[in-house]
Amino acid sequence: MSVPEKSAPLHPLEVRLLQALSKSGSNWVDFDAASSSSGLSPDQLRRAIEWLKSKGLLEERSRDKTAYSLGEKGKTIAAEGLPERELVRLIQDPSREKTMSSLAKELGGEFSVALGRARKNGWIKIGRNQEIELEPAARDDKEPEEEILEKLQATGPLSAEVLTPAEKDTLVALSKRQKGIILEEFQKQLSIRPTQEGLEASGELAEDEIGEITPDVLRNKEWREKRLRPINMSSPAPNFYGGRKHPMRLFIQEVREAFLSLGFSEIQGPIVQSAFWNFDALFIPQHHSAREMQDTFYVGSVEAKLSDKDRAVAAVKASHEDGKGTGSIAWGPGWEADEARRVVLRTHTTAITIRYLSDNRPEEARVFSVDKVFRNEKPSYKNNPEFYQIEGVMTAPGLNIRNLIYVITEFYAKLGFTRIKFWPTYFPYTEPSLQTVVYDEQRQKWLELGGMGVFRPEVTIPLGIKNPVLAWGLGLDRLVMMRHNLQDIRDLFGPNLGWLRNSGVL
Ligand code: PHE
Repeated sequence: MSVPEKSAPLHPLEVRLLQALSKSGSNWVDFDAASSSSGLSPDQLRRAIEWLKSKGLLEERSRDKTAYSLGEKGKTIAAEGLPERELVRLIQDPSREKTMSSLAKELGGEFSVALGRARKNGWIKIGRNQEIELEPAARDDKEPEEEILEKLQATGPLSAEVLTPAEKDTLVALSKRQKGIILEEFQKQLSIRPTQEGLEASGELAEDEIGEITPDVLRNKEWREKRLRPINMSSPAPNFYGGRKHPMRLFIQEVREAFLSLGFSEIQGPIVQSAFWNFDALFIPQHHSAREMQDTFYVGSVEAKLSDKDRAVAAVKASHEDGKGTGSIAWGPGWEADEARRVVLRTHTTAITIRYLSDNRPEEARVFSVDKVFRNEKPSYKNNPEFYQIEGVMTAPGLNIRNLIYVITEFYAKLGFTRIKFWPTYFPYTEPSLQTVVYDEQRQKWLELGGMGVFRPEVTIPLGIKNPVLAWGLGLDRLVMMRHNLQDIRDLFGPNLGWLRNSGVL
């Protein structure tokens, strides 16, 4: 016998449960009852229920139910008897006086209740001289209250469904009698039953399958007669969330690999920079708006060490003031070394590449960096005051803007972004300058991603760089946003564990 082709093979736990349930047809079966009839532990049962539910072979229902159990007082009474029973016992004792006063002394606070109840039950009668006598009923009858107490003591909590209306009334009366005798609890009652398909499937189940291949199975050659249970690769299993790299770090690694595969090497530089390397060396005029406090984070109370005699400092001053040697434009007199000594959190990673070029003055080079930059901006869904830039330069004789477009297009393609466009823009340090936009398929919008261009002679000549330099600085965070379809750039660094755990390796 085998399970029909169309359905996934059932696990032995599922088989056992379905078979047990099918005995009561399509009736609802309580969780506990299902556990005992199938022989599954509560934990196994819970799993089997989830699996069968997901296959549409079982349905589940949850209802509120009331359960009664013995309270502290109730336990004592169940063990020692009700006060009226105690009264009867005292009267039966031949060695005792049966006058009201002596019995009252014996029973203490319970006496009047015991007396009232015993009379009402017809167990006693009070004589002319106030002596108490037993009636025959006291010997034979067990009161309903006593019966239900005994039952609770023997079976533990009882749910309202299994009680007769009379038993329920007795329980209510008992709980009114004194606090702590009967406890009333509300619980969720889970019941299950097979669906129509479940019932049909249970008729065709393979009862005796080999689920696990053990040495015994091999030795006894059991596998010749029995069916091997197919392994269901799509059956749900618990998720494990181990340690992992942040999606941002994984993406940065991809960026690195893309440039390394294009023959580049990685360079790094400090986050805290002098204004000289962040602005002046790039021919950014000292009165440029980008230098203002509302755009740039200045590190107060420190000053960069910049000697006026430094070759680079002197050359940059000259290029800003009179353009001598660059054969080109200048910003005019008034360049202040003090302004260049101010210390900033770098506003772009171009500070790293220009420093590299100045220090090494290479004839030919291909270098890149992926690092953080800081801008004094209000955080929003598309801007963070700190973000990553993908920076790079290439220098060699004869390079031009077409080579730049080629490298950048190639780079984006390696990361899977193929719809990109370039158009002219302006930077103080490049000419020509381009801006690139990438098409965001999800939002169906072009997203601005970065700037690039050929360094102006006003930048390269003072620093002693001879050949054309192609340079770019591209946004990284927005690419990650697109990759993971995030709506807000701030989510990248937020504590949303769901996203972090499930972002997958994309
Ligand atoms: N530094 C520019 C920015 O931060 C990008 C850029 C880098 C432009 C290199 C041209 C050359 O936006």
